[in-house]
Amino acid sequence: MELGVCYYPEHWPESTWKPDAERMKDLGIRWVRVGEFAWSRLEPEDGKLDFAWLDRIIDILGKSGLKVVLGTPTATPPKWLLDKYNDIYQRDVQGRKRGFGSRRHYCFSSPSYQEETRRIVTLLSERYGKHEAVGAWQTDNEYGCHDTVRCYCQNCRQAFRDWLKYNYADINALNEAWWNVFWSMDYLSFAEIELPNLTVAEANPSHMLDYYRFASDALIAYNQLQTKIIREHSPGRLITHNAMIYFGDFDHFELARDLDVISWDNYPLGMLEHSPLPETTKEQFLRSGHPDLISFNHDLYRGVKRRPFWVMEQQPGQVNWAPSNPLPAPGVVRLWSQQAFAHGANVVSYFRWRAARGAQELMHAGLNLHDGSPDRASAEAKRVFEEIPEESAGQITAPVALLFDYENLWATDLQKHAQAWSYWGIQVSWYMVLRSFGLDVDIIHPREDLSGYKAVFAPALHLVDDLLAEHLSDYVRAGGQLVIGPRSGAKTLTNIAQAPAPGPLADLMGLRIDHVDALRPGFEEEVEFQGSLYAYTTWADLLTPTKAEVLANYQSPAYVGAAAITRRALGTGHCTTVGMWGSPELNAVIFSSILRTAAVPLLHLPDGLRLSRRGNIDYLLNFNQEPITLDGGLEQAGEVIGPHEVILLRR
Ligand code: GAL
Repeated sequence: MELGVCYYPEHWPESTWKPDAERMKDLGIRWVRVGEFAWSRLEPEDGKLDFAWLDRIIDILGKSGLKVVLGTPTATPPKWLLDKYNDIYQRDVQGRKRGFGSRRHYCFSSPSYQEETRRIVTLLSERYGKHEAVGAWQTDNEYGCHDTVRCYCQNCRQAFRDWLKYNYADINALNEAWWNVFWSMDYLSFAEIELPNLTVAEANPSHMLDYYRFASDALIAYNQLQTKIIREHSPGRLITHNAMIYFGDFDHFELARDLDVISWDNYPLGMLEHSPLPETTKEQFLRSGHPDLISFNHDLYRGVKRRPFWVMEQQPGQVNWAPSNPLPAPGVVRLWSQQAFAHGANVVSYFRWRAARGAQELMHAGLNLHDGSPDRASAEAKRVFEEIPEESAGQITAPVALLFDYENLWATDLQKHAQAWSYWGIQVSWYMVLRSFGLDVDIIHPREDLSGYKAVFAPALHLVDDLLAEHLSDYVRAGGQLVIGPRSGAKTLTNIAQAPAPGPLADLMGLRIDHVDALRPGFEEEVEFQGSLYAYTTWADLLTPTKAEVLANYQSPAYVGAAAITRRALGTGHCTTVGMWGSPELNAVIFSSILRTAAVPLLHLPDGLRLSRRGNIDYLLNFNQEPITLDGGLEQAGEVIGPHEVILLRR
């Protein structure tokens, strides 16, 4: 486990570089990311290259015993380059040009930009690919940031038509798959198909879903363009990309195939401010962020490649981009860093070394203040370094998995049907319950190997086909406990209704679903489960059992008595269907009874206190502003853990 930092030498006088490198080393930093926004300083004018400064800083870092993560600068093409071509700028959903003056102003489908990317990435990787100090590469920076995955330019239109033709071959196959007979939307050729923007009413959700798939594929192809060149010139170096918090506009499972390691950028306070959590929770975790909101991302990115990940940018203090930007409490940067390691990070790298004096992020903290003197997080980073266990980074063996799929995110959020519906929301609400039991959770793709898990949780398994149904049934037959949530089995892969629902999952779930209830935000209905009443909100599937037994019934006057939770025995396992978006209390009761059947030992941790296990180390993390007396089944019951404290216990 190692530490890193994001560094912008081009922002500071050269006289600071050496002392900076020495201080990085003193803090225990190993990796230094440079270069990802530096295009205008690497190539100030068309045809005029200046790599000498980058040579010098890489040498300085290398001589100080630091390793470089070299970023390709493609998130920020310079003005002269944009002026040279007329097809690089993105177009927003209204068709307007997204102009120069910030970043990410390019379109993935632009042939000119692809060519310019090839050129700059080749130059960089030829020059530095075998440099001793360069240990890793980062492609671009945060693909999709500032809403830039989906572009509506002419190049995208053509590329989308080509993508459709490749995937459907025959226009009638597409008409059928999209149900274009509706509203006379039939096409005679692929050349007639537009991007799904500027329609009068909403565009066909099948059209939208394919456009989202296309946009994700275009981004991934653009990334491949870079990784292919880097691999050729820089053998043996890791290639990564820094993904974002709760960002679902492209398929990260697919992106990660072309990376050696996935990394992500962890900004817990900004994330909390932007989250839909209740105001009281936001106040409670104002200066630490919510542990589960953070670790959901750690567990997802660990699951995306099923191996350790990096945190490429770790918040080191205040950020500048949330509606309000509180200072983290003392100790919290250490808490975040240890939490990342506990969930499988191999590197935690702070963003940024020194606070920027100008431009958009001048209110954003770094490990150092604007004048270069150490800010509060420097000492915390050093402490994290000193606490890094000597033994090599251990494995995480999670007893349970949560199934997450970007296509289900797109499809359900495209047709929310209930205003409060959110795919992230239901995923996180299920995850929080599992974490409150002290369980390590793998967040993985539904089509992954499930055989190692005692229980598997699948909220909103929306788009299904026979293969997926077979895969899940195999898991259950072999003794698995599968829990399927609301909105599952509702659609085919092209986003049209299964008739009847849940389509290919009917046998596994042992039921059919003819009606769904979509509630107003905040409106609560009740189910009766094991003799008690529990609330649910937002969504309810009315279950009609065919082969399943009924465990709970709805109490809503509109459908009183309808089955709400069912269980189907298959082989030596069970498939439990939870038809509604249950309250945390309801989910806790259902999940704990399933986990007992699966022989998974459970704790009952208070809010904000979390346990994670990696290798032979147990990490106990207190995200509360108050000390907590440990109980809930923990071995350390009776001991006190301080506010924002982390305890590492060797087993
Ligand atoms: C990230 C980005 C960085 C910086 C940071 C500020 O999204 O990759 O370049 O903008 O946020 O928090």
